[in-house]
Order: sequence, then C-alpha cells, then structure tokens
Amino acid sequence: MNRTVLKGDIVSSESLTEIKTIKNGYICLERGRIVSVSDTLPEEFADAVLYDYSDMLIMQSFCDMHLHAPQYPMLGLGMDLPLVDWLSKYAYPMESRFADPEYARKVYRRLAHDLISHGTTRVAMFSSLHTDSTIVLMEELEKAGITGYVGKVNMDRNGSPILQETTEESKRETLRWLVECSRFTRVKPILTPRFTPSCTDELMRFLGELSRERDLPVQSHISENTSEIEWVKQLRPECEEYWDTYHDSGLWHDRTLMAHCVHSSERERKAIAEYGVTVVHCCNSNTNIASGVMPLRQMLDENLKVVLGSDISGGNTLNGFDVVASTVQTSKVRSIIDNWETDHVNETEAWYLATSAAAPWFGAKAGFAQGNMLHAIVLDDSNLMRKGLSVTERFSRCFYKRQPGSIRAVWSEGEPAYMAD
Ligand code: GUN
Ligand code: FE
Repeated sequence: MNRTVLKGDIVSSESLTEIKTIKNGYICLERGRIVSVSDTLPEEFADAVLYDYSDMLIMQSFCDMHLHAPQYPMLGLGMDLPLVDWLSKYAYPMESRFADPEYARKVYRRLAHDLISHGTTRVAMFSSLHTDSTIVLMEELEKAGITGYVGKVNMDRNGSPILQETTEESKRETLRWLVECSRFTRVKPILTPRFTPSCTDELMRFLGELSRERDLPVQSHISENTSEIEWVKQLRPECEEYWDTYHDSGLWHDRTLMAHCVHSSERERKAIAEYGVTVVHCCNSNTNIASGVMPLRQMLDENLKVVLGSDISGGNTLNGFDVVASTVQTSKVRSIIDNWETDHVNETEAWYLATSAAAPWFGAKAGFAQGNMLHAIVLDDSNLMRKGLSVTERFSRCFYKRQPGSIRAVWSEGEPAYMAD
C-alpha cells in the first residue's frame, strides 16, 4: 500500500469563519488521498514514508480561479489605463503573439513553474483564442503538476485586426480544441466567451448550447467597469442587465465562473445567487485598472458563492499569499468608503475564498478533509520572530510577511510537485 505521512503545524480551512490548527500534527495519505489528520501518528502509518516538516506550517495550497496565461509577459504594464483601453493597447497585442506555439511554450512553461512554486496547484485559466497554443498551455500545466480548467478564448467581434476570429472559425476551432482535450487527465476544458462585447449573439448561443449538450463549465467576465456595462447596454439593448446577455444564451448556470461583479446591481446579485453562479473576486486587478472596489462582505452576507483570482495581468501578482492580503485590505477600503456601515473580511475568510471555497469545482471537500487528494504548501517561518506565537497567529501573519524562500514544498494531487533545494 502506498502510504505517506506529512508531519508539521497544520492549518486547514474548514469554513468561511473557521480554521482548524494542529501543532505537530500528522497528515496521513494513501495513494495521495487523505486518510486522517491528527495529533498522533496512527499505528498503521508507523512504517509509511515520512516527510518531516516539523515546525513548518502545512497549509492548503491556492486555487487561482481567474487568470490570463498569455498576459503573463506584460505583467505590470499599462496600469494607468482603464479596462477597455488597456485591452486594446496592451492585452490584445500581447495575446496576438500566441499565434506562435513556440513562443507559447516558453511563456507557459515559465508560468506553470511560477504558479506551482508559489503554491497554486489548481486553476481556472483563460488562454488566448489560439487552439494550438491552448493545447501547449494545457500540456505545460499538466507537466508542472497543476490541475484545473483551461479555456480557449472565443472572440468574434470588437477585438483587433490581429486578435479576432470569424464566427465560423470560433465555432470550428472550439470543436477542434475539445477533441484535442480528451488526452488530458488533470486539466479540463472550460468554455470561455471572453465577455459579451467580444462575442456575437450567435456565438454566445452556440457556446451555451455546447455547455448544455456536453455538460461543460463556463468562464467569463461581468460588470467589471462602468464603461463596459454601458457598452453592453448599447450592444444588447433588448437585455435589461449585463447578466441577461449570458442567461439568454444558456451560459448562466451553476457551473459558470464570472470574474469581477464589481458593479453588479441588486438584481444581478440575486440572479447570481439564484442560478448558483460563482463570483471570482479579483481585487488586485480591480484596483490596478481602477475598475472599482467590490462589496465583498455584502456579497458573502447575501450567500453568493465567491472564490478568488489573481487575474494576471490586470492583477499584478500570481502569489496567492499576496492575493489573500490584498483581499482583506480592499475589503477594509470598502468598509471605509461605506462609512463603516459594512464590515470587512479577515485572513481566515479570505484564505477560505482562496482555497476551500473552490473545492467543489475540483470534486473536493473543504479543508484537509478525509477523501481529498492532498493539495498543500509547506511554509517555513523559522527565521521570523515567532517565539510564543500560536499556529493561528503564524497563519495570520504569513499573508503579510514571509522569509525569503519560505515555500519549502508544494503538494498537488497527493504528490510532491515542487521541492525547494
Ligand atoms: N474583460 C475582457 N477581457 C478581459 C481581460 O483580459 N482582463 C480583464 N481584467 N477584464 C477583461
Ligand atoms: Fe480577466
């Protein structure tokens, strides 16, 4: 029997408001699957292979549920522009370079390494519209030990001369891509209409039908920026609100990830809850391209499903620790601009959104639950002043302060996927 044990100071996100900590605990695995988590080593694991991470934190790894792989090389550029200008001046020219699969290979190999070495083991990711480079991206993620969803982007209007498909091309290439996807085991396809301004009604309806027929998940953007919302009103005057454009096409359901929702109206938020759509909160991007400050606390209080995304390269970092810290900070900013009439989230809550909240997307349960494949980060904080600190205090601090080279190992799907030298 393939039995493994990890020993260390364990932190598990049980629910939005609750972490479970065990000082000097043991995570026991059978073929990579969690059998038990406890403060004593069970007898039947006495002979198992032991990974001794004593005095280090063993935490769940991150799920980055919204990022743009082909925007990685332009990270940090064009941050002085609002969304629509940023897309046409920076994002579209950058993405057009991924017509070349060799260029894609170089960038995507680097991206996959950077994700896993920073503790992100599960993703929902946008590629570009290029089918062959999308396959390259899926290969590189799988090789690096990253699991999750990748989407070939669909865009048949309002792109640029170098980054746009015809409706026919977009449909045909999506079908070709789906055939190619069948050879992947850990990385799965997700339908990816870029956003309503990029897709004709005909293309949206085609994708909605495909989602229904083949039971495929969907990811897109919504209500990120006020000019974008106005643009959608002009493009689809028959739709009362932005979300109606997705609903109308069969793209609004409980396997839909919608990034941003910064300016979603009360009616739109109700529709998100009613249809079980998952909101992907991307706070760094919302600040960088000055889209707005999403009312996160309110959305959680309204029982919306929320997960987190780095949204590189609107977002400026793929580091999940930094994303959690920024989520707490921007939530505090929201409280301030609301005259403290709304509360803000704390580290326990933001880390839940970055980890356990996305677990259902991967057939998993919250935390280091029995039956989950192990997805974990081993974090060394021995060089920080930590005398007398509890595991909970060390956990709260790690989002703001980490020593250089703090990530000692990352486990994905029950296997070590990254080991620091
Ligand atoms: N809306 C449509 N495309 C994009 C994109 O690439 N990034 C962001 N932040 N918003 C978008
Ligand atoms: Fe995005």
